[in-house]
Amino acid sequence: MATDLITWLRSKTFVLALLRKVQQETNSPLLAIIRAVLTRWTSHYLAFTRLLEISGPLKLLVSQEDLRGPDNQIITGDSKAKARARAMVRTIKNDTFWAAIQRMKTHLQPLALAANITQAAFCRLDEVLFTFGHLYREFDRLNQRADRHIREAVLASIERRWAKCDQDVFIVTAILNPFVDLRAFKQVSIL
Ligand SMILES: *[C@@H]1O[C@H](CO)[C@@H](O)[C@H](O)[C@H]1NC(C)=O
Ligand SMILES: *[C@@H]1O[C@H](CO)[C@@H](O)[C@H](O)[C@H]1NC(C)=O
Repeated sequence: MATDLITWLRSKTFVLALLRKVQQETNSPLLAIIRAVLTRWTSHYLAFTRLLEISGPLKLLVSQEDLRGPDNQIITGDSKAKARARAMVRTIKNDTFWAAIQRMKTHLQPLALAANITQAAFCRLDEVLFTFGHLYREFDRLNQRADRHIREAVLASIERRWAKCDQDVFIVTAILNPFVDLRAFKQVSIL
């Protein structure tokens, strides 16, 4: 639904122009809409975050246009275009949708951060290990009932990767890091 909404918004320059006007009138930042690349966590994270950032002006625009009745400037074009615009307006008014996007953003944030760190031109083995640790901790503390299967899936995936990798070299790099040494391996609850 989010991808659909993003694609539609980006193709409708008149809606974007109306949105910009609302952003200006409400002193909201003039943020552009970003489209995600299918296989990249980071781009989904950025696209969903941006969509959430413009959700206020977007909802305001939709309710303003609702008041115009037959002069609604969003529901325009031939019958097919109107049907699609109505569907998009339904999505924009759908609080369950926005709550779901907010949840996805929370789930994607640690993954986007991990991708950012480990895909940098210079990433050390100890940083990879701590990134794994951070990911584990972030998903381990998802305690909402609805998030249970996400927690289990991500933790199982991290465990699988860790079991397959050359663990010794990662552990040595952590011990050789003077800021970490053996402290990272203490039996404390957060580790
Ligand atoms: C609202 O969004 C949820 C998904 O987030 C969807 O399951 C539901 O069908 C939507 N409701 C309407 C009225 O479109
Ligand atoms: C990581 O994030 C920084 C700051 O947003 C960005 O400049 C950099 O290109 C990102 N690196 C990767 C590999 O995504």
